[in-house]
Amino acid sequence: MLKLFAVLIALAKVKISATSGAEAIDYNKQGDWGGVCNDAGSKKQSPVDVIIPEKSASQKEALFNLTGNADKADARNTQDKNSIKISFKTEIDYKIPGLKETSGQVKQLHLHWGKADAEGSEHLLNGKRFSAEAHLVTTYTNNNIEKNAVVARFFKVGEANAQIQKMIDSGSDGSDLEISEFNLTALYPSDISKVVIYSGSLTTPDCTENVHWMIVPEPLTISELQLTSLRGAILGEEGAAKTFNWRKKQELNGREFKSYTSSSSHFRMSVVVLLSAILYAIY
Ligand SMILES: *[C@@H]1O[C@H](CO)[C@@H](O)[C@H](O)[C@H]1NC(C)=O
Ligand SMILES: *[C@@H]1O[C@H](CO)[C@@H](O)[C@H](O)[C@H]1NC(C)=O
Ligand SMILES: [Zn+2]
Repeated sequence: MLKLFAVLIALAKVKISATSGAEAIDYNKQGDWGGVCNDAGSKKQSPVDVIIPEKSASQKEALFNLTGNADKADARNTQDKNSIKISFKTEIDYKIPGLKETSGQVKQLHLHWGKADAEGSEHLLNGKRFSAEAHLVTTYTNNNIEKNAVVARFFKVGEANAQIQKMIDSGSDGSDLEISEFNLTALYPSDISKVVIYSGSLTTPDCTENVHWMIVPEPLTISELQLTSLRGAILGEEGAAKTFNWRKKQELNGREFKSYTSSSSHFRMSVVVLLSAILYAIY
């Protein structure tokens, strides 16, 4: 009995250290990462080079329809040592694409970036790497086991992103970590038309292979200045910056990609076209 308790306590500790980001990760020594990150038996590691399948399953509903006040959410910078990470106080749920009748609960959002604009994203898309990648980490329960579903969004250099700026600003001062009116819908809007799904792992130790990955192919933009801010951002309480925080590409090992397309955005578009045509005909 005591042994069982000891095992349970040990497990609880592993769980806490894996989710709190207490340990600073050395991205220059990825081969030394613990957990199952470098185990020979780990065949479903992330990130990977995501190849968009030619065929796509289409659905009428929006792919990402975040409920609650997702467009003005209350959040807080968690002072993570490895990324700019914010957790949500507002309850936000959504139906997870690729998992029938399964709701996910939004937990946290964090960013990955690189030393130069030509790198930064963890996943590649048809062989292309982007300048940054956001991970919206959500949880769901399957057979009484809590699993992760993570939505990845890429950023290419262009206009500044207002929500990314809120994340950067929340971490720079230590004294005010609170974020109000965070517009998560702006990063994950309901008119996203395509998502690519595969089965993988966390991209930080312990690299647990329990993640339902959803990759949004359509990139958003981030400015040069914001990328520079990320590279110099004070992370954690002690304040060490990370010039880059992306894990290198992992083997696919026969895993397959599935694509889902939503016609809801097309439908809205055709309504707009139709209305314009009617107006044009009238005038
Ligand atoms: C999102 O879900 C709500 C509630 O189910 C629904 O009323 C709304 O039409 C959905 N929005 C989109 C864009 O699908
Ligand atoms: C959030 O962003 C979306 C998409 O950019 C926009 O349509 C919406 O008005 C924004 N909501 C708020 C409260 O700013
Ligand atoms: Zn991540």
